[in-house]
Amino acid sequence: MAATESRYDDVYRFWQRDPEAFWGEAARDVDWYRLWDDVFDPYSGQYGRWFAGAECNTAYNCLDRHVEAGRGDQAALIYDSPVTGTTKTYTYNELTDEVATLSAVLVDVGVKTGDRVIIYMPMIAEAVMAMLACARIGAVHSVVFGGFAANELATRIDDAKPVAIMSASCGIEGSKVIAYKPLLDKAIELAKTKPSACIILQRPQAEASIIPGRDYDWAQAVALTRSRGRKAGPVAVKATDPLYVLYTSGTTGQPKGVVRDNGGHMVALKWTMKNFYNIDPGEVFWAASDVGWVVGHSYICYAPLLHGATTLVYEGKPVGTPDAGAFWRVIAQHKVVSLFTAPTAFRAIKKEDPNGSLIGKYDLSCLRALFLAGERADPETLKWAEEKLKVPVIDHWWQTETGWCIAGNPVGLGLLPVKHGSPTVAMPGFELHVLDDNGKRLGANEQGTIAIPLPMPPGCLPTLWGNDKRFRESYLTQFEGYYSTSDAGYLDEDGYVYVMARTDDVINVAGHRLSTGQMEEVVARHPDVAECAVIGVADALKGQLPAGFLVLNAGVSRDHKEIENEVVSLVRNDIGPVAAFKNVMVVQRLPKTRSGKILRATMRKIADGEPWTTPATIDDPAILDEIKGVLAGRGMGA
Ligand code: COA
Ligand code: AMP
Repeated sequence: MAATESRYDDVYRFWQRDPEAFWGEAARDVDWYRLWDDVFDPYSGQYGRWFAGAECNTAYNCLDRHVEAGRGDQAALIYDSPVTGTTKTYTYNELTDEVATLSAVLVDVGVKTGDRVIIYMPMIAEAVMAMLACARIGAVHSVVFGGFAANELATRIDDAKPVAIMSASCGIEGSKVIAYKPLLDKAIELAKTKPSACIILQRPQAEASIIPGRDYDWAQAVALTRSRGRKAGPVAVKATDPLYVLYTSGTTGQPKGVVRDNGGHMVALKWTMKNFYNIDPGEVFWAASDVGWVVGHSYICYAPLLHGATTLVYEGKPVGTPDAGAFWRVIAQHKVVSLFTAPTAFRAIKKEDPNGSLIGKYDLSCLRALFLAGERADPETLKWAEEKLKVPVIDHWWQTETGWCIAGNPVGLGLLPVKHGSPTVAMPGFELHVLDDNGKRLGANEQGTIAIPLPMPPGCLPTLWGNDKRFRESYLTQFEGYYSTSDAGYLDEDGYVYVMARTDDVINVAGHRLSTGQMEEVVARHPDVAECAVIGVADALKGQLPAGFLVLNAGVSRDHKEIENEVVSLVRNDIGPVAAFKNVMVVQRLPKTRSGKILRATMRKIADGEPWTTPATIDDPAILDEIKGVLAGRGMGA
């Protein structure tokens, strides 16, 4: 593809010719205590390690470095919370001071370098401070999204084995106040690992009870530490040491602990800020995501701060706080130059304000680009955003595992022609091959699994927390010499990638990654359920929604509606409200192959009203008609 005025082709070719020279050069934008022995050491780790031998500190690079360079009085973080009516700006000086003090609090409650700290917090400035405070002392944070239930939190506590947990008394979801502390207490009760300290930020909307000896009041601890003049300095850690663990849905109830290192992560993220997002230090970059997700880690917390830009922490929704003009208000008020969010947020806005009439109420002349990720960007939403905002709308393809975009349209290098439905081309560091089930490379426009030849670039996961075996089995063994993305798609004749669907049980609900396999495990625990299937069905707002099919035990004569409601509550209480599991139906039988495999893909096609054929291996074709009938009764599958 002729790259018009874009430097993309040249830059990508430079990386292909000499990846070590490419990343070695990018690494000059980061401050190191000790330089690497090798840019890439192919002999260590699961597929090699980046910047082996180097020492650094991520929080130093996000904070002190900018203060030393004279940016101390510049805004580092803006907290904007329509749900509490608060806006607060922290300069680099102030944020550095807050983080250094909070780090000292962590040290005082016994957290040491290498220890894990779980952060279970809403979208407030203190969540970012907590992440940076851990990074500063070399502790490994693990942020758990607030929409997960106690049981999910307990699973993560048992896997990460944290010494301390940082949390807040409550989160505010639109007009609802969600008390976090009872969920935290329940999770600790359920978990086998007991943290020795919990640092709780009291919010006036719902104060939490404090358990003496274990819980510390965040504000009091910080005030006391500050009054003593105690601050913790940045600790030199290895570039290959873990910065954080972020749990993400896999195929089972046991989430995968994606590990991120310090050195490669900084190098990759710093590179993206100018070359991909085209942001200069001092500009305001807003990722309207949540710190509980990878986008929140990379582009609310780390990348904007590594770059000396201003990040925005938004405690609100795209709609309802107070209306579908919320995003435009924030952009105009804080002079946001780039917004990064999930397509579902735009679908929500479009639904409330189809003509975009609220846009005209605000001066959006500061906005240069909109970036979308987290799920497939449907061309209709993309076109609507382009037309209404009159800025480039960039779809880019991501995974929690990669930590930054695999493919996109690099604004900083110069835009490539846009093709709706495609997140454009592979970024330096990633080569994309489309493979069939036997690992054979497919040609242009042929659909298969998208795989990335090893090694993965800096910033991508080196392994899963405490589980190298699961890492290899999940990602490296399906295709020899490759990382399998578990995304199906194709490349067109110009090398543009099209990411169509997951090849596993993962579904994407309102930009949130969830596992249908995990939901099935929970549903199957209901005493009246003999077997079940959960599939992701298309939804105009949330992209996908889970739908559960239950076969009841013989002889169960209770009201079906009652059982369905109990199953909904079970999933809500076990996984959390974020699962959005509300669509459940009792069926007589599930369609299966003769070898007993549930035909989920065919069920999904029926539910989505797509053309479907009866699989040749089906045991009893009549069951598909039964499913169709039940779905029709719910207004689905037409
Ligand atoms: N804490 C507690 N509960 C939460 C939560 C949190 N952080 N986030 C979501 N929930 C709850 C919601 O309140 C809702 O509960 P309900 O069933 O009682 O109504 C449930 O989880 C489902 O949430 P969600 O799917 O987000 O639906 P919604 O109707 O609240 O909001 C959108 C819909 C589209 C506005 C919202 O999902 C959104 O802004 N999505 C963008 C996602 C995103 O940024 N993803 C990151 C990738 S870039
Ligand atoms: P997560 O790990 O939550 O970021 O979810 C990753 C998954 O979301 C990917 O494997 C894709 O299935 C999907 N995804 C993310 N971004 C895109 C995109 N731009 N286009 C299509 N699918 C996407």
